[in-house]
Amino acid sequence: MTMMQRNIIMKILQIYCFLLVLDGAVPSLPVLTGPDMAYLGSKATFQCCAAVSSLPVTYRLMKSRHMVATVTRSRENHPAEFVITVTAAKEGSYHCMVTAGGNTTASNTLSCALDALSASGTRITSEPDPAVLYEGSRLVLSCDVVVESNLTYTWFFNRSTVTPKTSPSLRPAGSKLVVERVTSLHAGLYSCMTMARLKENRTSSSREVQVTVKVFLSQPRITFSISKESNGYGGNVTCWTSRGSPPASFYLLLDGEEVASFNATESMLVTFPVATAPARDMGTAQCRVKTEVQELQSETLTLVVVPVGGHVKVEVQYLYGADSKMAAAQLHCLTSRGTFPSFSWLLNNSVLLVEVHPRPHLQSAMSSTRYGLVDGGRSLILTMMDPGESGSYRCRVRDSFDDSSPWFESPAVRVQIIDATLTTTEIISISFCCFLLLVLVVGTVCVMKRMGDCRWANVSRATTTNSGSHLLPVTHSLTTQRKQSRATRINYDVHNQTLEIPVQQDAPIP
Ligand SMILES: *[C@@H]1O[C@H](CO)[C@@H](O)[C@H](O)[C@H]1NC(C)=O
Ligand SMILES: *[C@@H]1O[C@H](CO)[C@@H](O)[C@H](O)[C@H]1NC(C)=O
Ligand SMILES: *[C@@H]1O[C@H](CO)[C@@H](O)[C@H](O)[C@H]1NC(C)=O
Ligand SMILES: *[C@@H]1O[C@H](CO)[C@@H](O)[C@H](O)[C@H]1NC(C)=O
Ligand SMILES: *[C@@H]1O[C@H](CO)[C@@H](O)[C@H](O)[C@H]1NC(C)=O
Ligand SMILES: *[C@@H]1O[C@H](CO)[C@@H](O)[C@H](O)[C@H]1NC(C)=O
Ligand SMILES: *[C@@H]1O[C@H](CO)[C@@H](O)[C@H](O)[C@H]1NC(C)=O
Repeated sequence: MTMMQRNIIMKILQIYCFLLVLDGAVPSLPVLTGPDMAYLGSKATFQCCAAVSSLPVTYRLMKSRHMVATVTRSRENHPAEFVITVTAAKEGSYHCMVTAGGNTTASNTLSCALDALSASGTRITSEPDPAVLYEGSRLVLSCDVVVESNLTYTWFFNRSTVTPKTSPSLRPAGSKLVVERVTSLHAGLYSCMTMARLKENRTSSSREVQVTVKVFLSQPRITFSISKESNGYGGNVTCWTSRGSPPASFYLLLDGEEVASFNATESMLVTFPVATAPARDMGTAQCRVKTEVQELQSETLTLVVVPVGGHVKVEVQYLYGADSKMAAAQLHCLTSRGTFPSFSWLLNNSVLLVEVHPRPHLQSAMSSTRYGLVDGGRSLILTMMDPGESGSYRCRVRDSFDDSSPWFESPAVRVQIIDATLTTTEIISISFCCFLLLVLVVGTVCVMKRMGDCRWANVSRATTTNSGSHLLPVTHSLTTQRKQSRATRINYDVHNQTLEIPVQQDAPIP
């Protein structure tokens, strides 16, 4: 029952009471009206009326056997009204006693339950309202109860209780949850629950509030693509932002003039078709993205389609690991012309079937298989570095938008991969161990000699001469090896620091 329904019922009872009084003739029992539920701390009104023949009349509001309040009326048709403040102790059964002319009659009994927090009792409010706000702004959620009293508050985020462990970035303080600078991590559903500690724990939950955190735009990016269609060529200019919340308006500018627009409501990527053809200058394109708070422009892009042509060649780059071991070889296909090239690689004149890695990242290309393609197929990476990858490599290029265009082939480049031998570090380690062993053996020999044990000395001398002859040149080269190793230590993660050794390179095969 809502408060409103209760009020209506009370009004009906009051009218009934009034009619009863007017009807005066019929002696009947007094009638007590009042709420059957009351909020803790609120005011509850009880009314008692009776048809009496003599004045004055005294009304007493009773809770069980205890008198709560008393009112005396000296005029007719004036029911008694009792206003009480609801406390935990006020819960119980009420009736009223009417005394007139020495006669006392008792009314009906009303049960008044205490409803410190009813379903409608706990409300959640947000500031701003509605809770749609940009990252970095302040969010205040309040848990409001109709009546403030001794309550405990529990906050929920995405239906789980907010604790320092589950949501370290949320610090509720009693009835308030304040986030000074919201991030997208704060987006979700919030609600609160209040609990009054009375005889039994009464809880009341608020509705849920959806907090939406809008993300600021990043600079728009622009790309241009072309495809051959049945009746000519089709071009698309694609604009997108990697960050940013919709809705946003995207505009296409050709040579500085706005030619198209689109209101994006879901995805922050918009494609505009443009008329195009190879070898035709179509000017420059630029994207503009506008939201209610931001307006950003992309870089300008020249819309030009140059067909593939001219010379094609392959360059080889060897990549070394931290241990100076040859880790991979990267073959680059270079063309002198072509804005939309499509690449293909050949080993010993047969086409290599390798998938292009979507992300141009050396590490991911290398982790999977023997060959990896990066940079849209422009670079081929030989990953295993085993002699099976040796052979003559060649790349060929044609226009990606036209499958019927001719291939332009590079001269072949021979790549020879030699079995990895001992690395510098290993040589140093082994040399050092041997050197230690030698010192140890020589030391032992000296000690033995002093002690005069001929048998032991003989054996030791034999060992010394045997290994000594091998070891001496190695230990001698220790310093030079170390110098080399320092000079060639390169991290292959860093493209710029790779060392190019022109081993067997640029040896075209007829
Ligand atoms: C008291 O009640 C009795 C019986 O109900 C009735 O006869 C009498 O008149 C009443 N007295 C007064 C003063 O109303
Ligand atoms: C609130 O409740 C606690 C424990 O239930 C009690 O110790 C405290 O006195 C109460 N405070 C008020 C203002 O009623
Ligand atoms: C909370 O729920 C929303 C969906 O309402 C979801 O997008 C968001 O990632 C969730 N956040 C966390 C931290 O779980
Ligand atoms: C009320 O809740 C408190 C704290 O959660 C608990 O200690 C107490 O036992 C509960 N009382 C009842 C009657 O459930
Ligand atoms: C251009 O976009 C349309 C629609 O998104 C698509 O069907 C078409 O294949 C695209 N053309 C090119 C060249 O990307
Ligand atoms: C985009 O929305 C704006 C108002 O926000 C409206 O004026 C404009 O016409 C819309 N553009 C398109 C292409 O729907
Ligand atoms: C390619 O040919 C060379 C000789 O021309 C040969 O040594 C090499 O093993 C061949 N490679 C492959 C992968 O067939």
